[in-house]
Amino acid sequence: MLMTNLQGQSMSISTDILDKKFKWSSPSNIALIKYWGKKENQIPQNPSLSITLSKSYTTTSLELTSKNENWINFKFEGMKKDDFIPKIEKFISRLGSEWSFLHDYSLNIESTNTFPHSSGMASSASAMSALALCFLEIKKSYHDQDFFIKASEMSRLGSGSACRSLYKGMSLWGDDGEEGSDLYGVEFSQFNSFYEGFQDTVLIISSDKKSVSSSLGHSLLDNNIYAHSRYQHARENLGKLKSILKTDDFHSFAEVVEQEAMAIHATMMTSNPSYVLMKPHTLNVIEKVKSVRAKGLQLCFTLDAGPNVHLLYPRRAKEDVIGFIKENLLQFCEEEKYIEDEMGSGPVRLSEL
Ligand code: DP6
Repeated sequence: MLMTNLQGQSMSISTDILDKKFKWSSPSNIALIKYWGKKENQIPQNPSLSITLSKSYTTTSLELTSKNENWINFKFEGMKKDDFIPKIEKFISRLGSEWSFLHDYSLNIESTNTFPHSSGMASSASAMSALALCFLEIKKSYHDQDFFIKASEMSRLGSGSACRSLYKGMSLWGDDGEEGSDLYGVEFSQFNSFYEGFQDTVLIISSDKKSVSSSLGHSLLDNNIYAHSRYQHARENLGKLKSILKTDDFHSFAEVVEQEAMAIHATMMTSNPSYVLMKPHTLNVIEKVKSVRAKGLQLCFTLDAGPNVHLLYPRRAKEDVIGFIKENLLQFCEEEKYIEDEMGSGPVRLSEL
């Protein structure tokens, strides 16, 4: 089949893609410096930096068949789930004319998550990066040097944070005047061995659907009078954190990371209309974490756009932290639920070709 790409060059798509199953698993990630606020075309207002997770991931398979009445068939955990289809359609339309050949087929997509659907964990990063990897493999060998960069660029168009899920360890996304780009995430490896195997234990404070979605949250920043100082603050925090990560100074790490979490929630409270995603138990946990750190435990927190608390700590503190959680924090969790995760090694290819 001959088609034309954005630059007007023709390129061929092999017809034997019909018999192939593309399959990838891709992890979630937790941001230390937050992406909160974006421009047109999924361009972030400030650079962000995240830890790639290991145990929370999405596995997605994609098969193209001759076109039948449904363009996209989507199953989640083995069940048809039509409400995700508009998100996939939007993603494909953002990929541009280079990918419009996908309309000539029916796309059969199946996905599973390792983390429970009701856990309150955000899944767009793992879901969109796994899907982007499947799409990209239609056209490009995963051996190609720029495969993951290209997959990251595509993932960004599915969900901004997804472009940081493609690499082991840590990822940086956004123009920071150094190695970062607004278009895709890159691997960030300049961290002290202190952070190897870093832990993220997620306390599930509430698994209720959020009152304000991430996309609405991002757009409410456009008219927030504090938005520009927030973007500047994030840039400064990234500079500080990059220096801190070269050391094992946990106290300074905790200071910057907690400030980032509180700063994005501050923008929520100062938006018009204002909203609060933290719950009373989110604050109860935060207080306990701060006071136990003052007593010497290497433990700090971060938050995504929701009430659940990500507890971050070095692997060597694990036994003490889990003991502390069980004794002091489980009372604040919904049905005592929590998820133990840690730094991971990025996506895994499962395609059978
Ligand atoms: C608070 O990546 O979910 O988790 O690009 O609209 O899909 P979209 O937003 P999304 O936003 C994530 C926001 C965050 C911070 C972060 O992960 O950096």
